[in-house]
Amino acid sequence: MKLYALIVAGGSGERMKSEIPKQFIEIAGKPILMHTIERFIDFDGSIEIITVLPENQLRFWSDLQKKYSFTIPHTLVKGGKTRFESVRNGLGFTDEPGLVAIHDGVRPFVSIDTIRRCFETAGKLGNAIPVISPSDSLRIETENGSMPVDRTKIKLIQTPQVFRTDLIMYAYRQDYLPEFTDDAIVLERTGAKINLVEGNRENIKITTPEDLFIARALI
Ligand code: C5P
Repeated sequence: MKLYALIVAGGSGERMKSEIPKQFIEIAGKPILMHTIERFIDFDGSIEIITVLPENQLRFWSDLQKKYSFTIPHTLVKGGKTRFESVRNGLGFTDEPGLVAIHDGVRPFVSIDTIRRCFETAGKLGNAIPVISPSDSLRIETENGSMPVDRTKIKLIQTPQVFRTDLIMYAYRQDYLPEFTDDAIVLERTGAKINLVEGNRENIKITTPEDLFIARALI
């Protein structure tokens, strides 16, 4: 079956407060996005990579590839105003039926085992998303004050979220809604049941300066 990795890095990264977009910040000698792409090639050397970047960063990315002698082939697609739009643009480049892993460009620590679990379950059931359990205690704020939440019932959602291409392309024909913060929510609106598989705790989304500090320690 044809496998795709659709890596979205089309955001502006305002929360990082850095001049350079977060996916291009260097850790251990190369930009974060290069580490992320390499993870998928380490999983399967024949996977087809589609990378979504803001239009005004395509040139910079091509300069970075030369500078770091980065030669992994990938299709470049321009991003949209929202993550939803960026994913939709990228899905347009999956030309054969198969499985697509939609992954945040700023999650370079996804493990090969997590990627494998997601593809295996999605191959059998049509979709799979990686989750971890929270280690903190949790409370929810209500009109009457805050209440404790049973943390054994809560899961934190990661990427890659893997889907049969026909199912996710159909789901992405919907109009955008602000609650579409990940791809599973988009698919779920078509009536699909979402399958949870185990993620890995280091698979953080590098978003803030503190995350970058942790990322440099992890690598
Ligand atoms: O904004 P958020 O933290 O949810 O972004 C998750 C991922 O989606 C990041 O890798 C970001 O670059 C990407 N994204 C995108 N296009 C946007 C906004 C976010 O590809 N317009």
